[in-house]
Amino acid sequence: MSEAKRIDGKARAAGLVERVKAEAGALEAATGRRPGLAVVIVGEDPASQVYVASKARMAEECGFKSVKHVLGAETPEAELLDLVERLNGDPTIHGILVQLPLPRQIDANKVIRAIAPEKDVDGFHLTNVGLVGIGDVATAFVPCTPAGAMILIRDALGEDLSGRHAVVVGRSNIVGKPMAQLLLAANATVTIAHSRTADLPALCRMADILVAAVGRPEMIRGDWVKPGAVVIDVGINRVEAPEKGEGRTRLVGDVAYAEAAERAAAITPVPGGVGPMTIAMLMANTLVSACRAAG
Ligand code: GUN
Repeated sequence: MSEAKRIDGKARAAGLVERVKAEAGALEAATGRRPGLAVVIVGEDPASQVYVASKARMAEECGFKSVKHVLGAETPEAELLDLVERLNGDPTIHGILVQLPLPRQIDANKVIRAIAPEKDVDGFHLTNVGLVGIGDVATAFVPCTPAGAMILIRDALGEDLSGRHAVVVGRSNIVGKPMAQLLLAANATVTIAHSRTADLPALCRMADILVAAVGRPEMIRGDWVKPGAVVIDVGINRVEAPEKGEGRTRLVGDVAYAEAAERAAAITPVPGGVGPMTIAMLMANTLVSACRAAG
């Protein structure tokens, strides 16, 4: 089998962002309403800081109002809930994103439930989780990473995934579970695998669509991939890279890319695959929220 097509998520995301920018401009011209995104980070997790900074920067690039709230690692839960309440009531803010994970003293579920569902551009609130669960993906805010991954899958295979077997490795609320629901809504036959699944390599080899969202660097090897499969790597793992010099690191996915590319029909790289799509979908969700907002 020849080398897989490298799915360029960065270019695809750039195209989406251009559309969001244009539509945000048109919305503001027509209604005076400028989409507003508030991102909230609690604590100093370096990876979270990078993600939040790029989300806030992209919102600015889209012409949105972009507000970043940085709270100390010791912030009490009540203080964060107060902030969420204020943002819920702020008519210039259409999207609220509280970066996860949160420090131990804060109950993330409680915070997510406090976000107004119509401003929950992450798609984590029970209302949006429920809408995705019943297949009403047009009304829901769909979580950004699986929504972005789904676009790449549809680009590769078309809208209707009837007859395709999708294996999602990972069962997180942020990626694995909603990813499975979206694939199901597109008529794929879906298996969710996880750390307790027996003979994971054999199961993966049955996948026409293999989605890796486990957070373990290069865990999925080339010989786990069915020849001709579409492989979507959601993992972003920082590993040591002594070949680049002492103390240097590099990003790798959950899939051993070079090996998998020898068997797959198409595969997302890390970086430059699903990651940029996640941010683009956040912008798209925020724009939709601003369009839906009254007044
Ligand atoms: N942490 C890792 N991914 C995400 C995400 O998509 N949204 C939020 N809020 N936190 C995250």
